[in-house]
Amino acid sequence: MPDRTVTEEKPQTSRTPAPGPAPAPEPPARDLPPGPKGRWLVGNGLDLRRDQMGFFTRMQREHGNAVTINLGRGGRLFLFSAPEAIERILVVNAANYTSREVNLPSMPFLGDGLLNIDGDFHHAQRALVQPALSRRRVESYADVMLGYTETMLAAWAADQVVDMHLAMQQLTLRIVARALFGVDLADASGPFGRAFNAILDYDEDHGLLPKLRLDLPFTAYGRYQRARRFLDREIFALVAARHQVAAEDVMTTLLQTGLQDRQVRDHTITLLAAGHETTSNLLTFTFHLLSRNPAQRGALQAELARVLAGRRPSLADLPDLPLLDMVIKESLRLYPPAWVIGRRARADDAVLGHRLPAGAFELMSQWVVHRRPDLWPHADEFLPERFTQPVSPFAYFPFGGGPRTCIGMPFAQQEAKLILAAILQRYVPELVPGQRLVLEPRVTLRPAGGTYMRLLQAAA
Ligand code: HEM
Repeated sequence: MPDRTVTEEKPQTSRTPAPGPAPAPEPPARDLPPGPKGRWLVGNGLDLRRDQMGFFTRMQREHGNAVTINLGRGGRLFLFSAPEAIERILVVNAANYTSREVNLPSMPFLGDGLLNIDGDFHHAQRALVQPALSRRRVESYADVMLGYTETMLAAWAADQVVDMHLAMQQLTLRIVARALFGVDLADASGPFGRAFNAILDYDEDHGLLPKLRLDLPFTAYGRYQRARRFLDREIFALVAARHQVAAEDVMTTLLQTGLQDRQVRDHTITLLAAGHETTSNLLTFTFHLLSRNPAQRGALQAELARVLAGRRPSLADLPDLPLLDMVIKESLRLYPPAWVIGRRARADDAVLGHRLPAGAFELMSQWVVHRRPDLWPHADEFLPERFTQPVSPFAYFPFGGGPRTCIGMPFAQQEAKLILAAILQRYVPELVPGQRLVLEPRVTLRPAGGTYMRLLQAAA
């Protein structure tokens, strides 16, 4: 869940909403959405903390597509699970909903990066960042994506057991760091990678209780502050170097737009944070699904063998690999790495005919909507071919939608395809016996612990 403090309050952002089309009128609002009764004082707070994804699924099944959830002293939140409600909040009336107040408290380290800003400021900054991540620019990173994957593969051998989750984390961090900063984190568990992960873990781990903030060598907060200072020093040194000599990276492109050093730091660190764990989780979940569905895996490997005939995959091959595309889409449906989106209403709105007061905290969960049995036949099954049919908008939103749609979508899609193609060409990764998928819903949905897989040799 992105926000841990869900008390309703007046939005405090000083930025004005981005100009946009006037929102479509909604039917007259009646009451707040219905919801469960909840316990005295704590409401449903305990149920939610025990099993967030299960609880939200139950709320949709039992109370419908608009639910009020009381969290006792924690305030209340509204869960929307109808495509038209999600479209209203993310697109049609997007200017009425702030992300800053949802994200900033849990990710202060990201400063004024895209995730933490709103309104006109977000609109203008997004336009500056966009060209650095356009489909065409992203294509220029194909060699980096494939090169690092091949380096990883060169260290693997048939029959070896690998921790696929760890391998994908290291690989995607190395790729994104190179694309953003031009640096090679040959060892992702080196100082840069360690500092970065220490910060993300601490930021994520805020929880409902405020942490004791003692900046001492042995406290968690002290370690966090040290990592933060280290990373800032490294990044500002890279910025200074880019002022001297331009490089083929996102940082250079951003500096060329005239952005201040601080803003370039906030953007690149946000892209790093948003861009590596999501993609590594997608890849790990996909390997899980393929191992549990050998017929689909066989069909995908046959497609790769037919189209690539053992050669290195290239961008030109991707349009000829439709099953690869559908496997990734289906994986994102079943295990969406961004599993919930939060917003806070600036002013009153009406959604699905219900009143939504100013300050209300809304959640829309990909996990819940992507598995609604009335929207998705055989919702819990891995059926990539379902994507041969068009999908109804906002019944599927793994990359969000509207003005805040994932800016890294072309990067993630290209990266996931190239990595999967390169690995599956050589190996058939099989989950080791007894390896179960335990889900950990944090800021991203991720597999808990390691994901141990044996690398069987793919048929030539
Ligand atoms: C499978 C991989 C990914 C998934 C599932 C994913 C998902 C999402 C979603 C759902 C949002 C919208 C959040 C909201 O509306 O509040 C988002 C935003 C964002 N993503 Fe991604 N993402 C992925 C990969 C990436 C990559 C590779 C990058 C960068 C290289 C990236 C950078 C961002 C940024 C900066 C935003 C904020 C955009 C804005 O607010 O204007 N993401 N992502």
